[in-house]
Amino acid sequence: MTNVTKKDKSPKGGLENNNMVCKQDKKSKIHAPIVEALKKTYETPSYQFHIPGHTRGNGSLPEFRKLIGKKALCVDTTDEFDGLGTLHPATGPIKEAQELAAKAFSAKKTFFLINGSTAGNLALAMALTKKGKKIITNRNCHRSILTGMIISGAEPVWLIPNRFEEWGIWGNVTPESVEDMLNKTPDAGMVWITNPTYEGVVSDIKSIAAVCKKYNVPLIVDEAHACLWNFNGHLPTSALKLGADAVVHSLHKTGGSMSQSSMLHIAENSTLDVDAVEKALKLLHTTSPSLMLLASLDSARANLESPRGRKQLERAVQNAKYLRREIDKLEHIHDLKPDFGYKTDITKVFIRDDRLSGKRLESILEIDFNIEVESASDAGLLILSNIGNTRADMQYLVKCLQIIDKTNYTDICYLEKKKYMPMLTPIIKMTLREAFYSHKETIPKEQAVGRISAEVIAECPPGIAVLLPGELITEEHIPYLMDYDTIEVIK
Ligand SMILES: Cc1ncc(COP(=O)(O)O)c(C=O)c1O
Repeated sequence: MTNVTKKDKSPKGGLENNNMVCKQDKKSKIHAPIVEALKKTYETPSYQFHIPGHTRGNGSLPEFRKLIGKKALCVDTTDEFDGLGTLHPATGPIKEAQELAAKAFSAKKTFFLINGSTAGNLALAMALTKKGKKIITNRNCHRSILTGMIISGAEPVWLIPNRFEEWGIWGNVTPESVEDMLNKTPDAGMVWITNPTYEGVVSDIKSIAAVCKKYNVPLIVDEAHACLWNFNGHLPTSALKLGADAVVHSLHKTGGSMSQSSMLHIAENSTLDVDAVEKALKLLHTTSPSLMLLASLDSARANLESPRGRKQLERAVQNAKYLRREIDKLEHIHDLKPDFGYKTDITKVFIRDDRLSGKRLESILEIDFNIEVESASDAGLLILSNIGNTRADMQYLVKCLQIIDKTNYTDICYLEKKKYMPMLTPIIKMTLREAFYSHKETIPKEQAVGRISAEVIAECPPGIAVLLPGELITEEHIPYLMDYDTIEVIK
């Protein structure tokens, strides 16, 4: 669609001149093609008779327009219009932005995702696996990998990662366990590892990739939490440089893009069927992709590559080091450190208080100090040192932790009963796909032993599944079902 009246810059009579593209763009010649195309669209508005029907916010609720700003609504458009390019197939500025991202992340090919890394995992499962194919994957994988198997009909072969009992979290996957499983599963079609864990524990992907090469199976790495690694030497190395075939990155989690926006990368030397992945993505994606989300991916990549972005990331690393140093001085609060042969991502600071549960510590931080953290479990809580956090933010957090550390909480029973971490060997009775499409019923928990689960029962975090659809419920499961009165089972 072209602009109808270029001379009339404001069909509704009032789009002032604006400076939408960041000033740094001009100074350091950072190129962000989608951002630039969107800016042009904004500066040369047309009479629009197309979607989205709010037409630059005129049809929006005024309160909403005020909250997010008129400008945001002016640039809320979809692909195809005004020379913005298309997502499927990638054309114009969108194609160029994906190529720039591939270069920045050291990939052969990068796809922009607008339904998070979830869409990337689903597309990989759809494109690269099929009914009956075996996937060796860690039991604490994200549910999008399970959904991928429901869609494709592939079957999981579970790897149980190391467990760090004292911290109540699941740890790294060892190359030895991958090799052992490949030996036991000669028909395995793929290895799919989550790295790092939510709490930042890193597996030895280089060695795992070497094992996969030896057995001639592709390696996919779910790096949803690791999109910053290619931009700072203090952070671990991305699997894209360590021999993995494909990687997903949730740029929206830590990379600075808007919620829902992620990337899927195919590694330089990978022989994966890229066309099949692209076709699967086209099936999964909306046909009206948000240009704002796509521009936010383009701008996040440009920012991370820029001197300013690199500074922000270095500040995040230094802030994390500062926080860890200060925690080391405390009596009751401790942080998870690299130990026993695994590494951690320094920006993910998992802490615990030896007197309080993680959930209690989280409420104290929230209620008494107005601090929100990433997540909390019985054992501890996760703090992210982000590219957007200032040193002052971190100093405030440290001050609050110092106060908590000194406070006497013994008059209140804050320590909650720690749940045991389940380590149950699943008895698989039917595939995830079969279970998903089976008739189900809900029964009281007391009647569940001997039945086949129809639901995912997992604690998140630490996020390892106690039961998945298609697995037999045994007496051993009952202690982990305390929060459940009823359970959905296969009829
Ligand atoms: C390991 C892992 N993979 C994939 C995802 C899905 O990511 P997204 O929220 O970008 O869809 C998550 C989300 O939390 C995750 O933790």
